Amino acid sequence: MSALFSELKVRGTLLRNRLVMSPMCMYSSTEGFVSQWHLVHYPSRAVGGTGLIILEATAVEERGRISPLDLGIYRDEHVEGLRELVGLCKSFGAKVGIQLAHAGRKAESYPPWERERVEVRGSRDAIAPSPVPFGKNWLTPKEMTREDIEIVKESYREAVKRATEAGFDLIEIHAAHGYLLHEFLSPVTNRRKDEYGGSFENRVRLLLEVVRIAREELPESTPLSVRISAVDYVKGGWSLEESVELAKLLKAEGVDLIDCSSGRIAQEESFSEYPGHQVPFAERIRREAGVKTIAVGMIKTYEQAEEILSNGRADLVAVGREFLRDPYLPLRWAKGAGLEIDVPRQYIRAW
Ligand SMILES: Cc1cc2nc3c(=O)[nH]c(=O)nc-3n(C[C@H](O)[C@H](O)[C@H](O)COP(=O)(O)O)c2cc1C
Repeated sequence: MSALFSELKVRGTLLRNRLVMSPMCMYSSTEGFVSQWHLVHYPSRAVGGTGLIILEATAVEERGRISPLDLGIYRDEHVEGLRELVGLCKSFGAKVGIQLAHAGRKAESYPPWERERVEVRGSRDAIAPSPVPFGKNWLTPKEMTREDIEIVKESYREAVKRATEAGFDLIEIHAAHGYLLHEFLSPVTNRRKDEYGGSFENRVRLLLEVVRIAREELPESTPLSVRISAVDYVKGGWSLEESVELAKLLKAEGVDLIDCSSGRIAQEESFSEYPGHQVPFAERIRREAGVKTIAVGMIKTYEQAEEILSNGRADLVAVGREFLRDPYLPLRWAKGAGLEIDVPRQYIRAW
C-alpha cells in the first residue's frame, strides 16, 4: 500500500494522490493573462498523474507582481484564461489550486533574466509594511498607509471571488518567501508602530484578516492553504515557535493546510538546502498545531516521499524542480516502485 498514491479528501476536494506540484513562477504572462505556455505546461503535469497542481504566484494587485511577466488575477478579464486552464487540468484528473500573491517590497519592474543587468533592483511602485529595502542595491519600498492595507485586503477579496469563478479546487495564500504577507509577519521587515506591527498579535493581523476574507468568499467545500516561511534564517527573525502559534490561529479561521517552506526574507540570510531540509517544519507544525501540512524542499525520490507520509510527518508532499525536469514524474515514480496506478490509455503500451 503506497502512502503517496493514496487519496486524500480536504473539504470537498478529493485528491487522487498526495503528490502536489509546488507553485513555480513561469514568467510567461503578458499583463497577467494565461498564455499558450501555461496551457501546455500545467495540463502536461495533469496528464503525468499529479494529484494537485498549485499554479504559480498569481498577483492580486498590479503593483504586487514579482515581475511584469507574472500571472495576474487583478482584473475580471483574467478569469477566462484561468477557467480554460483549470478545465484542461481537471479533464486529466488533477485538482487545481492557485497561489494568490503580493510581492510587497520584492516587486520588480523587469523580467528575471534582466536582474543581473539592472543597477538598482525593485520597483518604484513597491509597497511594504515599513520602508526597508530587501538588500543592497534595492529601491526602498513605500511604507503602507492604512488605505494601502485596505486596498490589499480588497484585492484579495476580489481575487478569491475570481478564482472561484474560474473553478479552482483550492486557494493558497502566499505568506512566505519575503513577499508582502511574510513582510508583515517578520520583525526583520515589519517596524510599524500601529496595530499591524510590534507584538506577535499585531504582526499576524493582516494575514488573519486576509484569511478571514478568503473564507468568507469561498464556498464551504473549497479548501484553503497558506504557504509560510516557517523560519527566517536571520537573527531576530520569525521563528518556528511563532509558526506553530500562527498555524493554530489559521486553523481556527478555517485554514485546511499549511504549506511549509522557509526563508527568503532578507539578502543576509544563511542556510543550506539538502534533501528534506524543510520537512521538520511540516512535522512540528502538524504535530503541535494539529493541522494538515504540506512538506516541500528537495524531495526528489519516491522513497523519500513515502517516508515523510508514512511516518506522519506531513499530509501532502510538494515537488518543485523535479517537476520542471519531468512532467510525468508521478507516473515514473509509480512505475519505478512497481505500483499499478491509472495511466492515460494513450500511454498504456509504455507501462
Ligand atoms: C522556477 C521556480 C519558481 C518558483 N516560484 C514560486 C512561486 O511562485 N511561489 C512559491 O511559493 N514558491 C516558488 N518557488 C519555490 C518552489 O515552490 C519550491 O518550494 C522550491 O523550489 C523547493 O522545492 P524543490 O526542491 O522541490 O524545487 C519556485 C521555485 C522555482 C524553481
